[in-house]
Amino acid sequence: MVEHIDKTRLNNNLRYRFDFLSKFIDFSQHDVTTLNILAPIIFPLLPKAIDLVYKKLYSFDVTKRFFHLRNDGFENFTSNKEFGMTLDAVQTEFRKDMLTVYLKRVLTQPEWNDSFLEYLSRVGQIHTNKGGSASINVDYIYMNALFCYLEQILIDIIWNAENIDQKIKRQGIRAISRFIWIQNDLLTMHYSTTWNNDNSCSSIPIVKLTKCFFI
Ligand code: HEM
Repeated sequence: MVEHIDKTRLNNNLRYRFDFLSKFIDFSQHDVTTLNILAPIIFPLLPKAIDLVYKKLYSFDVTKRFFHLRNDGFENFTSNKEFGMTLDAVQTEFRKDMLTVYLKRVLTQPEWNDSFLEYLSRVGQIHTNKGGSASINVDYIYMNALFCYLEQILIDIIWNAENIDQKIKRQGIRAISRFIWIQNDLLTMHYSTTWNNDNSCSSIPIVKLTKCFFI
């Protein structure tokens, strides 16, 4: 039997799009629960994982250049040479924190409800030119490369974890892979001209950026 998929809804409705993707790649509540089970195993290794991500992004000029842009909230920052704090260093720490918050949220989210899907979509959107004032317009080639790199880091953590059985490892690796591909789609759709989500509000920041306390 062939299931009908409404192409217009795929390009207009985040929940409908996610449901289709989930069915196609067999992503289910079972994967969400597996990610929740793995959270306490991955959390202690996140600082190291995020350091690796930033090392990679900073090792090529084409990716590093995005990190010289100023974050909202850092407009008035003046470097404090006495303490050796430069704007780049402070912003890098802040951005590492944002990536940590994101990964922790993905791992602990008990249900992928509409507001969580909006969050994933908004994380994708700000990297394109459609994220309103938060847009950073990262070329897709770098996003694709980093998804692969991040996926490998997370898979390695699971693969090398002690005290979890083979079955959970296998389920965990699958769950991570499915999450990465879902996030990749919820990014890619914003690069495309066919995506037209009436409900999304690009002016809403995904994280409430409080003013940096160094100001
Ligand atoms: C695996 C792929 C990626 C993921 C999951 C990811 C995730 C995130 C998240 C969660 C934020 C914080 C958003 C916020 O809370 O405001 C962020 C910000 C940022 N991302 Fe990415 N990112 C990815 C790839 C990249 C790449 C490849 C680049 C550049 C080459 C990049 C550049 C940035 C920059 C510059 C910001 C900071 C925006 C600002 O200054 O407010 N990201 N990213």
